[in-house]
Amino acid sequence: LEQEALAKVEAASTLQELQDVRVAYLGKKGPITEVLRGMGKLSAEERPVIGELANTVRGNIANAIDEKKAGIEAEQLEKQLAEEQIDVTLPGRPVAVGGPHLLTSIVEEIEDLFIGLGFEIKEGPEVETDYYNFEALNLPKGHPARDMQDSFYITEELLLRTHTSPVQARTMNALEDKRPVKMICPGKVYRRDTDDATHSHQFTQIEGLYVDKNVRMSDLKGVLDRFAKQMFGEDREIRLRPSFFPFTEPSVEMDISCKVCNGKGCSVCKGTGWIEILGAGMVHPRVLEMAGYDPKEYSGFAFGMGPERIAMLKYGVDDIRHFYTNDLRFLKQYHQA
Ligand code: PHE
Repeated sequence: LEQEALAKVEAASTLQELQDVRVAYLGKKGPITEVLRGMGKLSAEERPVIGELANTVRGNIANAIDEKKAGIEAEQLEKQLAEEQIDVTLPGRPVAVGGPHLLTSIVEEIEDLFIGLGFEIKEGPEVETDYYNFEALNLPKGHPARDMQDSFYITEELLLRTHTSPVQARTMNALEDKRPVKMICPGKVYRRDTDDATHSHQFTQIEGLYVDKNVRMSDLKGVLDRFAKQMFGEDREIRLRPSFFPFTEPSVEMDISCKVCNGKGCSVCKGTGWIEILGAGMVHPRVLEMAGYDPKEYSGFAFGMGPERIAMLKYGVDDIRHFYTNDLRFLKQYHQA
C-alpha cells in the first residue's frame, strides 16, 4: 500500500492531483483510516504492532506529499517569475508632454530680444493704485484721455491696471539714486471692452522704457526697427506716425511693412501695405519730474505693445479669443517638437 501511494505521489504533477492522492490514501474513507477503525477487532498483542505500522505508513505518505507539494510550488513560482520577467532593454513608451502656450512663447521671444538689447525685466501689481496707473503718467483725475482706457475700478483709489506703464513709474520712483533705467515690463492688463475677435477685457502688454542722459527719438527708432526685423523678418521696414499719449511727447504709432515675398514673387497685404504694431514716444517731462528725474538732465523713450496682436500678425491667428479658450487643437499647432 505504501509503495503504491508513494508512486502516485511521485506521479502527481499538479497540486490538485496531489490533493486527490491525499484524500484517497489519508482521507476519512481511505485505507489507513479503515485499518485504524478496525483496531477494536484485533487482539491485544496485534494492536500496538498494527497501530505502529499504520502510523508509520501514514507518516511516510504525508511526508512524501508535503515534499512533493513544496517541489510543485517552487516549480510554479519559478515559472511565474520567468513569465513575468521584464526586458529592461525594450524601448520605453513615450510620455505625453505638453508645450508652452503660444502667448508664453511669444512673450519669452520678445523678452529675449530686449534682454539682448540690454533691457531688464520688471514686474508690478495687477491691482494698481489710481496714482500709478494714471496720475503719475500725466493723467490727472478728470483728464479726458482717461476714457481711452475704460477701467475696472475696485475702489475709488484702486483698479485693475489698464496698461503696464505703472510698472515703469514705480521702477523710476523706487530708484533712490536716480540712475538710468532700461527695462521692459510684461504682464496682464484689464480694460472694460466687449470681447470680440480683436478685443478682450484682459490681455497682455509689454512696455519698454529707457531713461538716460541724451536719449533721443533716433534711439527709439533704432530699437523699434531692430525689434520689427528680428520679430517679423529682416526685410521688414517700420514707419512712425504722429499720435497722442498723455505720458509721451512727441507720441507715435509704429507700423511695419507687410510685404510678404515667396518663391512666386511678392504680395502686399490689403490696404496700404502697412500694419500698426505699437505705440511709443519720448517720455513726457512731467512724467520724469513726478518720478524724481530732472527733465533738463534726463530724457527717455517708452513704447507699449500687445503680444497677442504680435502673435496674431506673425502666425495669422484670426481671433484674440483663441489665446484664452485653451482649445488644444489651436494650441498644439504652436508646440515645437
Ligand atoms: N500705455 C500705452 C497703452 O496702453 C502704450 C504706450 C506705452 C504708448 C508707452 C506710448 C508709450 O496704450
